[in-house]
Amino acid sequence: MAHAEPLIRNISDTALLAAVYRERETERQDALFRDPFARRLAGKRGDQIAYSIPFSNRNTWAWVTRTYLYDEFIAEQVQQGVDMVVNLAAGLDTRPYRMALPTALQWTEVDLPGIFSYKEEILAGEKPVCALERVRLDLSDAPARRELFAQLGRRAAKSLIITEGLIIYFSTHEVRAFAEDLAAPPTFQRWIVDLVSPGLLRLLQKNMDPSLSQSGSSLKFGPAEGPEFFAPYGWKPVDVRSPLKTAARFKRLSFGMRLLSLLPQSNGRQGSRPWSGICLFAKR
Ligand SMILES: C[S@@+](CC[C@H](N)C(=O)[O-])C[C@H]1O[C@@H](n2cnc3c(N)ncnc32)[C@H](O)[C@@H]1O
Repeated sequence: MAHAEPLIRNISDTALLAAVYRERETERQDALFRDPFARRLAGKRGDQIAYSIPFSNRNTWAWVTRTYLYDEFIAEQVQQGVDMVVNLAAGLDTRPYRMALPTALQWTEVDLPGIFSYKEEILAGEKPVCALERVRLDLSDAPARRELFAQLGRRAAKSLIITEGLIIYFSTHEVRAFAEDLAAPPTFQRWIVDLVSPGLLRLLQKNMDPSLSQSGSSLKFGPAEGPEFFAPYGWKPVDVRSPLKTAARFKRLSFGMRLLSLLPQSNGRQGSRPWSGICLFAKR
């Protein structure tokens, strides 16, 4: 008997989910950003995946503010002289098409082959605003990623690395090795990471893992140390922005979440408190 294909077939299908929330934001009158490609990229499967995870649907603010805060950090870093952006696990992100960026900016996207073939089919005929290239690579292949990082490192004076929605899928051991590899090229100067506390990780595991784990995309990483986790591996946190506070500022929260957002911001150890931060790191 043939088995029905799971809705989330593999880890790259989580990129469809991210695109759905960018599409929904784009359709709002008061959109915090607009991604004119998100509708096409998310497709019907993206919608089906989103509707199959009610917890995620109820917390759209978390996806939207993540994108908003990454956009904000990227724009600031480019303004401050970054000449290369390396988007690791870029998925269906379209920043090189939708953001106001210098034409000379080098932008490298890295992800698995399948998702890039899908993306390129849909974006064929669209023109990025900066110098975009795509590299098909499994980032868990340590020697291959080191080789890529070294090559990219030689081509820039100051690079910004972004890993939006990636490291939560890595084990602690994998994140450690990944952070060390990223710290190796001298020109890799800044890194943006979205981070959750152990308390939020547990909440996400309870509510999202039943859908994700069938495709081998379990949520694993939420360090007790918070952003300071990265210090021994070459990266010091220089700015941490709160998705929750950002969502409160733009009136995107339910009453209960609004109350939670009134608690003072803290970026250290959170214990069991649900916490997330979009963190900008600088090379130590
Ligand atoms: C939640 S999506 C985020 C995509 C994009 N950064 C965004 O925010 O829209 C996770 C992405 O990580 C990619 N990914 C996961 N593991 C990977 C690996 N070992 N190598 C390369 N890409 C990987 C998936 O293919 C997927 O595109």
